[in-house]
Amino acid sequence: MPSITAIIGRPPSSTLISLAAVCHSPISTDRRPSPLVSTDSSLVAAMELLPEMAMINPSAAAISRRTHYHLVAATTRTNSIFNSSSLFFIRPPTTDPFRSQSHHLPPKAKAAAAVISDNLVFPDPDFSQQAHVPNFHKYAEMYKRSIEEPAEFWSEMASEFHWNNKWDQEQVYSENLDITKGSIHIQWFKGGITNICYNCLDRNIESGNGEKIALHWEGNEPSHHSSSLTYNQLLDRVSQLANYLKQNGVKKGDSVIIYLPMLMELPISMLACARIGAVHSVVFAGFSAESLEQRIIDCKPKLVITCNAFKRGHKVINLKDIVDSALSGSSQNGTYVGLCLTYANESALKREATKWQTERDVWWQDVVPNCSTKCDVEWVDGEDPLFLLYTSGSTGKPKGVVHTTGGYMVYTAATFKYAFDYKPSDVYWCTADCGWITGHSYVAYGPLLNGATVVVYEGVPNYPDPGRCWDIVDKYKVTIFYTAPTLVRSLMRDGDEYVTRYSRQSLRVLGSVGEPINPSAWRWFFDVVGNSRCPISDTWWQTETGGFMITPLPGAWPQKPGSATFPFFGVQPVIVDEKGKEMEGECSGYLCVKTSWPGAFRTLFGDHERYETTYFSAFPGYYFSGDGCRRDKDGYYWLTGRVDDVINVSGHRIGTAEVESALVSHPKCAEAAVVGIEHEVKGQCIYAFVTPVEGVGYSEELKKSLVLSVRTNIGAFAAPEKIHWAPGLPKTRSGKIMRRVLRKIASRQLDELGDTSTLADPNVVDQLIALSDS
Ligand code: WTA
Repeated sequence: MPSITAIIGRPPSSTLISLAAVCHSPISTDRRPSPLVSTDSSLVAAMELLPEMAMINPSAAAISRRTHYHLVAATTRTNSIFNSSSLFFIRPPTTDPFRSQSHHLPPKAKAAAAVISDNLVFPDPDFSQQAHVPNFHKYAEMYKRSIEEPAEFWSEMASEFHWNNKWDQEQVYSENLDITKGSIHIQWFKGGITNICYNCLDRNIESGNGEKIALHWEGNEPSHHSSSLTYNQLLDRVSQLANYLKQNGVKKGDSVIIYLPMLMELPISMLACARIGAVHSVVFAGFSAESLEQRIIDCKPKLVITCNAFKRGHKVINLKDIVDSALSGSSQNGTYVGLCLTYANESALKREATKWQTERDVWWQDVVPNCSTKCDVEWVDGEDPLFLLYTSGSTGKPKGVVHTTGGYMVYTAATFKYAFDYKPSDVYWCTADCGWITGHSYVAYGPLLNGATVVVYEGVPNYPDPGRCWDIVDKYKVTIFYTAPTLVRSLMRDGDEYVTRYSRQSLRVLGSVGEPINPSAWRWFFDVVGNSRCPISDTWWQTETGGFMITPLPGAWPQKPGSATFPFFGVQPVIVDEKGKEMEGECSGYLCVKTSWPGAFRTLFGDHERYETTYFSAFPGYYFSGDGCRRDKDGYYWLTGRVDDVINVSGHRIGTAEVESALVSHPKCAEAAVVGIEHEVKGQCIYAFVTPVEGVGYSEELKKSLVLSVRTNIGAFAAPEKIHWAPGLPKTRSGKIMRRVLRKIASRQLDELGDTSTLADPNVVDQLIALSDS
């Protein structure tokens, strides 16, 4: 528990009393350590004497704004913010940045005043007061317990849900994250019998929320009618589909591929699978036929659920054609799927215009509504699989990340509640697609487990114009808005007027995910979208982690734009150097996690060995995230991007190897090397060096057809931004491509090429530079 050990200046006694209350600690102005004196410059000097400054106490900051005192708290000696005592400093009022004028400033300017040196943005005291975690002290207390007593901590969280049988009380979790000690395994709540669909729907209905809106659906066209489902109605719809699946032989443990756009039917399908213990594998509707086929062959589903077509912006996408091609490809490769349940999305394409295979295809509307709205739940073990979700890695073959039921349920629910400070009156909108992990954990499961009202939006966020998001926010009175930096940057480029023409008064918390949010985009999001009132939860996590790992808890501490701040309960991030040595204090290196957390993935589908080698062998004893990270002097975490062969384009992970194999599948491509370079809106974009086969000339047509090859092999979102002709690629004598050199050429940092003397043919570099603009 932090205690006040020093105070500088002469604050009024009321401040001392409030401080004492916040810190649960007696305060004495007498206990003044010798180097500390009362003038501001010596305060700075005194601070410099401290080996490591670690923490700013938010509650103290809140008080400072009320009393015109600026308080700073620092932890001594250790970077561990949780077990050391804190020093609080009070600057005299004469130097206070909030002094007197702050009351007379308009909200925006007031918040600007709240941004003090070191880029700290303090939470509004009124927000903090009502938050689940109102101050850093409360967080530290909960965090400490989550680390010291994980079984008790998470058992309490889990007890909020319905379990038919409790999990093994003797062993709430079991784990081995150390490859040198045997096979990697993670288990939570084994022996606990539950069902996540029951907990999302039936449990909320039983507690009296049956008539609350669960989903608001907003179509692509602003003029299109929108629709809503209450928890009661959602349960009926889910049960009907679950009964249909059961009638068609889908049983516990079977897999089902869901290839749908953001219609209500997408979360309905996920929940229906979960209700009967089937394992869903949602494939993002932007993936190509080849990608879908690959996933069908890998997980051999009992059926595929899709729709005939959908609209995205101005475009109509004939999804069923893609499924037809994937299913015919998979059956040629030995995986035959005999049922394709197709939702007729007639606003995009009429039934009559849809290609049909009578023996295999069934219209959703012809069969599902005839099924009973009562469907018994299949009770499953906490460790039974809930879903598979494929994600890119550093080889051409995507990885089927497996999440199980109990731990994932508890973790997504808890992270949603705390990281967004969720309250029952909130209306929540996450712009992610359910085809990605964000849509699984924070469109569907996390919010519904909390009984939230969720907006599901079918279209693109800037259609028909860049004001669409704020139109939707005002229409549904959205209070929590969660999106990706790429969208923030693109809306920022379109200008403030698209934002300011809408009220946005309902907003209270903003969120960001998918890639590091650059400070200028953060500021715009905060100042313009949130009117400088709404904290931003910059949540760092991954498909593999199931839920948030490093995230602000709104209201609990000051933010630094661009930093994901501190670990969530139960998460122990560590930064290691190249040799796997854990570093302390201020440092940069590879981000790993020590010990398991309930939402962690348990394996890669059908390939536990790849799970172990990809994530647990680089740094034995830890889970390796594949991300680089910096920890600053105050203990804040700053994610710096992928350190492996994965590119993050608009928050979507794409493996360089996948794109390369798509390029070389083109008959005129002899060799390809792909790197990621910075992109103003997308964060990163794909830059491909291509060597055509002997005798084939460079041409614009070939470029187009190479890009098309990537679109058809993976999906449009993976299309290279630039094709750079390469007579040869820079390789070491052992044949390894030197991507470092390619990255520098691609980003035109020619004076930073570094040592190229180890290349088999150093002339290649000059040739590549000469072809830069061709
Ligand atoms: C990146 C998305 C910085 C990171 C949930 C990670 C982030 C990858 C952030 C996972 C963030 C995600 N700040 N980087 N707030 N959130 N990332 O599996 O590189 O699609 O490894 O999961 O996105 O992407 P994935």
